[in-house]
Amino acid sequence: MPKKAKKAIEIDENTEFKPSKEFSKNARVKSMAQYKRMHAESIDKPNVFWAREAKELKWQKKWDKVLDWKAPNAKWFSGAKLNVCENCVDRHVEEGRGNKAAIIWEGEPGDKRVITYRQLLRDVSRFANALIAEGIKPKDNVIIYMPMTPEATIAMLACARIGAVHSVVFGGFSAESIKDRLDDSEAVAVITCDGGWRRGGTVALKANVDEALKGNKTVKTVIVQKRVGNDVTMKKGRDKWWDDAIADMPGTHKPKGFNAEHPLFILYTSGSTGKPKGILHTAGGYMVGTYTTCKYIFDMKEDDVFWCTADVGWITGHSYITYGPLLNGVTQIMYEGAPNYPEWNRFWSIIEEYGVSIFYTAPTAIRAFIKAGDEHVDKHDLSSLRLLGTVGEPINPAAWLWYYEKIGGGRCPIVDTWWQTETGAVMISPLPGCTPIKPGTATLPFFGVDAAILDEEGNECKPDVPGKLVIRKPWPSMLRNIYKDKKRYKDTYWSDYPGVYTAGDGARKDKKGNIYIVGRLDDVLNVSGHRLGTAEVESSLVSHKTVAEAAVVGKPHEIKGESIVCFVTLKTGVKDTDALKKELRNHVGKVIGAIAKPDAIHFTPALPKTRSGKIMRRLLKELVKTGKVTGNVTTLEDSKVIDVLQKSMQAT
Ligand code: WT7
Repeated sequence: MPKKAKKAIEIDENTEFKPSKEFSKNARVKSMAQYKRMHAESIDKPNVFWAREAKELKWQKKWDKVLDWKAPNAKWFSGAKLNVCENCVDRHVEEGRGNKAAIIWEGEPGDKRVITYRQLLRDVSRFANALIAEGIKPKDNVIIYMPMTPEATIAMLACARIGAVHSVVFGGFSAESIKDRLDDSEAVAVITCDGGWRRGGTVALKANVDEALKGNKTVKTVIVQKRVGNDVTMKKGRDKWWDDAIADMPGTHKPKGFNAEHPLFILYTSGSTGKPKGILHTAGGYMVGTYTTCKYIFDMKEDDVFWCTADVGWITGHSYITYGPLLNGVTQIMYEGAPNYPEWNRFWSIIEEYGVSIFYTAPTAIRAFIKAGDEHVDKHDLSSLRLLGTVGEPINPAAWLWYYEKIGGGRCPIVDTWWQTETGAVMISPLPGCTPIKPGTATLPFFGVDAAILDEEGNECKPDVPGKLVIRKPWPSMLRNIYKDKKRYKDTYWSDYPGVYTAGDGARKDKKGNIYIVGRLDDVLNVSGHRLGTAEVESSLVSHKTVAEAAVVGKPHEIKGESIVCFVTLKTGVKDTDALKKELRNHVGKVIGAIAKPDAIHFTPALPKTRSGKIMRRLLKELVKTGKVTGNVTTLEDSKVIDVLQKSMQAT
């Protein structure tokens, strides 16, 4: 008999997906009534709620006060002493998970390593001892520029263990980007690698570090993991191989307790100026936030195998590779390379081989998989999966449905998690055992999160009316500062409404309270789930000798979410050739990194500006989206510019 074709699920705005009875029964939060009760407690009595959660972790000294809040400055767990690394590693060995796999790692070429919690403790201890031997002290800043090897996680944990502050720079960023971060953080050490594998080729990480360190005065030590066997230059007295650095180091190290507000890491992220912001997170609150979100949102249990496909260079990799899963003592997968290497089935083959039960990835990846074709999925048994997650941008219903049916087999809830580098941990998300899920919405606020949508006057918007997404109460994993810049911290996040955190996203709530993220309100692009400031791309363009002026806007893109479109005015006498376009593209790639390479460059004799000289990006956005400008152009200094631009867009 011919196999009956499975009826395709059809959805509209009102379609809700509920977890199976079986899933709910075993979940940490089993019903909406339980969610509501816990959420109400977390808002009304945050001290009670968070103290109960925090008690599940190890504190060398208990806190005096759960929260001390003088907007915009929060202190969580004041008076407490703890070691985040001890909580991620030692605690599990003490509790009997010593021989449990902490990290199952696959390199891009196919090499494999399993690191148990006991081995992780030894590896982290040795590296912590090596850092101390190099003279690195608590509160010293350390740049980590690594591929996705276990050593990246070990380096982060070792920094945390000795109270040093890591600042991970994504391996796809350029030498100049490293330099900016070195200058701002005044780091004393860099931990890097001879190179990383990417689609069969290697990325020259150490060479980029060398370039970035030219003229640097603060870095005393560079530790280099040998991974790909690239030729590298080692500077005497400064550079050391990882293996040599740990060779004589003992495999034990006593983790000292640090204050709860001790800095844990700085992670740079794009804002609306050309200068990335150093988002500062501190130990105690971040630990509790990442622990709790993993526990409830990913519903982590002892025998789960968790896989987050992010890179440790982004906040997702910090919170849901290095910290959250290890705090929960689960086994996690870490993969070094590209999702389509050697074939588009790489992820599915990893899920099958290791029996991944919880899988967390980005909508942009899902769309790329859809395009690559179902045959890559069909040959794999994905029945070990029980829960799926997404992060980074809104997920369009078509991609959601494919993920739900094709990857989740129609049985796995999908948690669409909204959060930011600044929030440290997930803020808005379904709880998989109870929340009715609608494709396209991150649904409801997590415990302790008082999310609202406000209009310009600060009133709450009516259902379905978009406004600014804000958080009205402090939460444990919130950022504490923009590194060395309290004013920018206050101005950027806490000035729209007094005492209220402005996320920078537009959003709306439906009648049931589900929150739909509409997109960024500032000049920040979201390209393949990565945040990029239009001002950064503009300033890299104008740093090229031929460019007089540039304006950058995002254009909706089928796979990447947004693509980068640039309008460039050349200096007088410079010829607008295709070769120059290519050169400018590469120039941006060199200044920022490959992720920032523009998708399109349009040369224009002038940019649309207001009489006061402000570039009207709104018009450019409309132009790239629809090919024309319909809005009001009367405030333009020279309205003919629009005609010229429209014509030149049509010509290309
Ligand atoms: C921005 C934060 C948080 C880790 C990845 C990005 C967008 C993030 C979602 C989501 C809609 C989302 C927002 C946010 N964003 N998650 N589930 N639905 N939009 O971190 O680089 O700090 O970017 O990403 O615009 O503000 P990030």
